Amino acid sequence: MNPSIENKVIAITGASSGIGEAIARHLAAQGAKVVLGARRIDKLEAIAADIQSAGGEAAFTTLDVTQLDSMTAFVQVALNTFGKLDVLVNNAGVMPLSYLNNYKVNEWHQMVDVNIKGVLHGIAAALPVFERNSSGQFVNITSVGDRWVGPTSVVYSATKFAVRALTDGLRQEAGPGIRVTLVAPGATESELAESISDPVLKKQAIELFRSTTLSANAIARAVAFAVSQPDDVDVNELVVRPITQKNF
Ligand SMILES: NC(=O)c1ccc[n+]([C@@H]2O[C@H](COP(=O)([O-])OP(=O)(O)OC[C@H]3O[C@@H](n4cnc5c(N)ncnc54)[C@H](OP(=O)(O)O)[C@@H]3O)[C@@H](O)[C@H]2O)c1
Repeated sequence: MNPSIENKVIAITGASSGIGEAIARHLAAQGAKVVLGARRIDKLEAIAADIQSAGGEAAFTTLDVTQLDSMTAFVQVALNTFGKLDVLVNNAGVMPLSYLNNYKVNEWHQMVDVNIKGVLHGIAAALPVFERNSSGQFVNITSVGDRWVGPTSVVYSATKFAVRALTDGLRQEAGPGIRVTLVAPGATESELAESISDPVLKKQAIELFRSTTLSANAIARAVAFAVSQPDDVDVNELVVRPITQKNF
């Protein structure tokens, strides 16, 4: 338990695996009331049941971040179940890496829809709630790809550069009492490489992830650090890499 996190209502997008799942489990263990959203409802149900059987509080609902209505309903689940929303973690993301001249245009669209529009929908759904209360926190999960670009990660990095810009702009525009945090993970254990459709790139990514990864808990602890600060402390950016990740 952490008295600075206890009883905060924290909604997490993309909570069905990887970093989002770790954030949900870690914050719930610190005493937060967590609301889990993603498309794979069976996974959310199992994670919420685990949290509840460990004595924590969790709700879950199906969520497609590409749809504003779905995101608004997700925020409403937090308000209906726990009476308030303190933190929205915009975590859902996809990373189907490919070379531009493979023209996987549908995958470019998917990255824009989930990684950028998903975060915008989170802002549209939660900012009015936070502004009404003059209190609240966004935690946007980007990537070290929000400041680095290399072959195959061009569109993915572009989406994360965009979210970094959005996050800093949101920080400046958001009303009093609203905090805005960006957490940029390096290579982290998760299911992210599964979204790569090119078998060669997928194998390379999985091999890289196996050789150089943080546990998703390391990112969850960074989120907990930002959330647990006193209300007048706005942790704006945390970049968390495995110590062995030097070149990107
Ligand atoms: N792992 C890394 O090395 C790494 C590094 C830097 C940044 N990140 C970022 O960390 C975040 C989490 O990724 P992860 O690594 O934990 O990968 P992951 O295990 O694949 O998790 C991605 C999550 O996003 C959800 N998601 C995908 N599309 C969605 C949609 N349309 N609506 C709602 N949820 C959706 C997935 O749930 P459903 O499929 O159930 O919907 C899943 O819960 C992403 O933003 C990613 O870019 C990861």
